[in-house]
Amino acid sequence: MSVYICPVCGKPLNRVDKTMRCENNHSYDISAKGYVNLLGPGKIERGDDADMVAARRRFLNSGSYDALRNALCEVLSNIPFDTLLDAGCGEGYYTKKLCDSFDKTEIYGLDISKKAAEKASALCKAANICVASAYRMPYADGSFDCILNVFSPLAADEYIRVLKKGGHLVMAAPLPEHLSELKRIVYDKVNIKSMKDTDIEGFFLVSEKQIIYPMQLDTALLKDLFTMTPYYHKTSYEDKVKLDSVASLTVTAAFTVFDYIKD
Ligand SMILES: C[S@@+](CC[C@H](N)C(=O)[O-])C[C@H]1O[C@@H](n2cnc3c(N)ncnc32)[C@H](O)[C@@H]1O
Ligand SMILES: [Zn+2]
Repeated sequence: MSVYICPVCGKPLNRVDKTMRCENNHSYDISAKGYVNLLGPGKIERGDDADMVAARRRFLNSGSYDALRNALCEVLSNIPFDTLLDAGCGEGYYTKKLCDSFDKTEIYGLDISKKAAEKASALCKAANICVASAYRMPYADGSFDCILNVFSPLAADEYIRVLKKGGHLVMAAPLPEHLSELKRIVYDKVNIKSMKDTDIEGFFLVSEKQIIYPMQLDTALLKDLFTMTPYYHKTSYEDKVKLDSVASLTVTAAFTVFDYIKD
């Protein structure tokens, strides 16, 4: 049975040919690329735009975050799971690796950006990708053994609802020094924030591991990296073009990978 529920009435959605339909006859077409839009009527699509998605695809394909992806897979390989949701899956870089590494698992991906979902579903044919908000997920209660969150909005209440009892949340988050050299080029003043509290209500922390390494990036990769960050749209044109004159820069990648269990 499908784990999807209708964003209008909450009833189960079942696939009939190229459509997902509930018993109240609300229906959602599966796109040619393979994803289904379950954002619901009147809900505005936000999230990453086409430029950010394209920049992320180019940057991730350079291999610069492979160490993080490997660390996530290592944590996941110690967790028993049959169903996993990549919440805020972006263009599918991590989702694809999960499909390849855990091929007995049912993999789902969700992102509020249509462009990201389009790219992710084209890349990860084995995954079930939808457009929806992490704060209003179109999945039945207790659908998943595990949720992966890589730099995406943390919708803890929804995670608790859609996770099974004892389900895991594996999460990657940046450390304060992450990308500090890049920020120092772009901004006149950089505040290195202190580490956030790691408590998440409804979960207990099982393990955490830090991954810190230098990346040698040329101008194109620096610009792609900056374009895929949340700072991009908040930065002035004058600040953005400062990266054009940097031929090469060593930038610190610094993450923590957390493994939580639902209480
Ligand atoms: C920093 S990106 C990370 C993408 C992917 N996990 C990765 O690391 O390559 C954050 C993602 O969250 C998505 N997003 C933002 N708000 C969202 C929401 N409310 N619900 C679901 N996805 C959201 C964005 O569209 C974007 O793809
Ligand atoms: Zn319905």
